[in-house]
Amino acid sequence: MERTFIAIKPDAVQRGLIGQIIERFERKGFKIIALKMMQSTRELAEKHYEEHKGRDYFERLVEFIVSGPIVAMVIEGDNAVAVARRMMGSTKPQEAEVGTIRFDLAQVKEMNIIHGSDSANNAKREIGVFFSEAELIDWEHNAERWLYEK
Ligand code: TYD
Ligand code: MG
Repeated sequence: MERTFIAIKPDAVQRGLIGQIIERFERKGFKIIALKMMQSTRELAEKHYEEHKGRDYFERLVEFIVSGPIVAMVIEGDNAVAVARRMMGSTKPQEAEVGTIRFDLAQVKEMNIIHGSDSANNAKREIGVFFSEAELIDWEHNAERWLYEK
């Protein structure tokens, strides 16, 4: 099983969408490995988005991420990185597929309510930025036998 890092961004927290977003991943059958509400520091936000350093939107992006609390989570499932990205929809919410989290709940890329890792390597790196090893809970997800074939 693969793990991916998801963050519910400050706009979604302010708009009361935490529950709805987590619910979608639960309903899909993902196993939640870690979950916490937190205030990101500038340092964490810059580290998380280090690939975007130098882009014209970088400063605004970091300001946005530290503008209020976020909910950081790690979810696990078969092909978790790609499946979670499909569920989120593309970066620009108005152009995302209908039915995705971003299409259904957001309007513009600067406030697109959710982050999801874009590769298994980035997932590992981002999980390490936001969580300590002890915060990752390895529990038995009994629903898995009803979700995946052996
Ligand atoms: P990116 O990794 O391209 O998108 P995604 O979140 O879909 O993986 O960009 C990271 C975030 O940076 C994106 O969610 C919103 C912000 N951003 C802008 O504000 N303006 C832009 O032009 C781009 C490309 C991204
Ligand atoms: Mg990205």
